[in-house]
Amino acid sequence: MKTQVAIIGAGPAGLTLALLLHRAGISCIIIEHRSREYIEARSRAGLLEQNTVDLLNELGAGTRLKKEAQTHKGVNLSFEETRIRIDFELLTAGRHITIFGQREVIKDLVKTCLDRGIEIYFETEATQIDKIDTLSPEIEYKTEDFNGKLHCDFIAACDGFHGIGRRSMPAGSYSEYQNVYPFSWLGILAAAAPSSHELIYSYHTEGFALHSMRSDTVSRFYIQVDNQDKLEHWSDDRVWGSLKRRLHTEGFTLHTGDIMEKSITPMRSYMIDHLQFGRMFLAGDAAHIVPPTGGKGMNLALADVRWLASAFEEYYTNNKENKLQSYSADCLRRIWRAQDFSHFMTELFHKQAPKGTFAYQLQKSKFDYLKISTAYQTSLAENYVGLKYI
Ligand code: PHB
Repeated sequence: MKTQVAIIGAGPAGLTLALLLHRAGISCIIIEHRSREYIEARSRAGLLEQNTVDLLNELGAGTRLKKEAQTHKGVNLSFEETRIRIDFELLTAGRHITIFGQREVIKDLVKTCLDRGIEIYFETEATQIDKIDTLSPEIEYKTEDFNGKLHCDFIAACDGFHGIGRRSMPAGSYSEYQNVYPFSWLGILAAAAPSSHELIYSYHTEGFALHSMRSDTVSRFYIQVDNQDKLEHWSDDRVWGSLKRRLHTEGFTLHTGDIMEKSITPMRSYMIDHLQFGRMFLAGDAAHIVPPTGGKGMNLALADVRWLASAFEEYYTNNKENKLQSYSADCLRRIWRAQDFSHFMTELFHKQAPKGTFAYQLQKSKFDYLKISTAYQTSLAENYVGLKYI
């Protein structure tokens, strides 16, 4: 097989890149290790920045999003049962966020790609990446009954944190930065009407809790658990009891219902400082992981490929490589900002140090400051809704 840009991975980054390239008349092929059913069923976060919504609409993948997604003009933040609302509209000149599960975004992106004739090879594993320091890189791949080679001008590795893309960068071609947190998130999806119109992030002495939602009848919740914790320790009753305590404020009632899914996800911040080597470019989780407390993961992935697609476009239209060369630096500004914001939100709302310690007092002081300062609220709001393209 031969194409101009070979894309590894049919996640938000790979699929959006394919649509952007297709629109620019650049050929591409996506190879995806998993089946279509698998990638369309994976439960992930669901917070979309305005930039992301605009891009999906611009690419014609936003029809269902427009009809079914919820627009949130603010967010609720709690610290030990004191709750404040951050008003995005007021603080960011009318910007807001959109709640729509990543799984739904994936379904719409896959369908839009296939409707446009973009080739996606599911259940096809990239097993080796060669010649990235030449003008003709290659990907060896295998399916259940076939081994083949994909020849291309460029490789876009959009294959997630554990993918082959980053592993195939030569040793020493990048440095890593990371922070592993001493807690994880237990996430549940429940057949329960949301108990709030907007999200609630809550610090509680028992640990963090987040209330999100997917529709008028389905809620999504997360609670902080220890890294060693196991799903079998969390009966449905224990989950609901914990959520009731952790989300409690005066006048708040938690709606409960059947728990349809339960999973535990560790939290990490991870970065590399070179998203490119030769003719291979990394995008999305392949290059960076943020803790989910800021809801930035999918938004960063789409911001990466927006840069990457415009760099490829400049290369194929004007034969210039300067945008390809500056891809890393251009993306890193935004990624570091999101890293800092996600870390800030994580540290502010998770239980880390016992009450009364210096670290706890600083955490509480930040929240107390948020309660009284429009400047501090504005800073949180503009990062949360997503900075314009920086
Ligand atoms: C979600 O709806 O899954 C969600 C929302 C906000 C976050 C993380 C996850 O910060």
